[in-house]
Amino acid sequence: MQEKVWFVGAGPGDPDLITVKGLSLLKDADVLIYAGSLVNPVLIDRSDAKTKLDSWGMDLEELVAAMESAARSGKTVVRLHSGDPSLYGAIVEQIDELEKRGIEVGIVPGVSSLFAAAAALGTQLTLRGVSESLIVTRPAGKTLEHDQIRELSRHDATMVIFLGTEKLEEITKKLACPPDTPAAVIYHASWPDQKIVRGTAGDIAEKSRKNGIERTALLVVGGVLDPEKKGHVRSYLYS
Ligand SMILES: C[S@@+](CC[C@H](N)C(=O)[O-])C[C@H]1O[C@@H](n2cnc3c(N)ncnc32)[C@H](O)[C@@H]1O
Repeated sequence: MQEKVWFVGAGPGDPDLITVKGLSLLKDADVLIYAGSLVNPVLIDRSDAKTKLDSWGMDLEELVAAMESAARSGKTVVRLHSGDPSLYGAIVEQIDELEKRGIEVGIVPGVSSLFAAAAALGTQLTLRGVSESLIVTRPAGKTLEHDQIRELSRHDATMVIFLGTEKLEEITKKLACPPDTPAAVIYHASWPDQKIVRGTAGDIAEKSRKNGIERTALLVVGGVLDPEKKGHVRSYLYS
């Protein structure tokens, strides 16, 4: 393998949901840098890396410097991101800096929490007769001035909203879909303490609060959560 720094998707939490390639790189890494709060410590223990660094609190310059110096001394560096690194993973800024310094990178995809949530809910995110489209988005916050939740919720598509657990009231007020549209909040999908709260666009924020969900959750909105009501039809796949 030519690459020196690997960006690897750790999966949503269950340590067995990392890919075979990701696990093999993780085991053999010399230096492992991981996003502490969202990556299961069991995965960190599965790595034989001599240096293991939690990236929490490190800024981009520190991160890049740590990856660069290890890669220059011929070490294999694995940068472990939660879920799939392509979703809210901020890997492009790290890759840009590494490439500017002539360090090669590789990316190994992971199972996003969005897919773990669909599995936990026992549904499809696209379902014939119910929704042919999936919208992935996030609310405005410290790092995003404006969001498009209102506009996006007009499309009768399945919506998955990341990074919004503390703002469920604000988010659901913006939803332009009918208030009886099925909705669910999934906390810690695939972790042993996974929790699912079901409701509607109109009441999910309150229900979720009452169930004590305050962080690391996804809001899913759409008819795929109640396919019988929405009238899904048999797909052509098995006909
Ligand atoms: C920085 S983003 C990283 C997303 C990650 N790249 C992915 O593909 O799942 C962190 C947000 O993802 C969501 N998240 C991550 N892991 C989760 C899980 N196991 N269950 C539910 N939501 C999760 C939460 O909304 C959390 O605030």
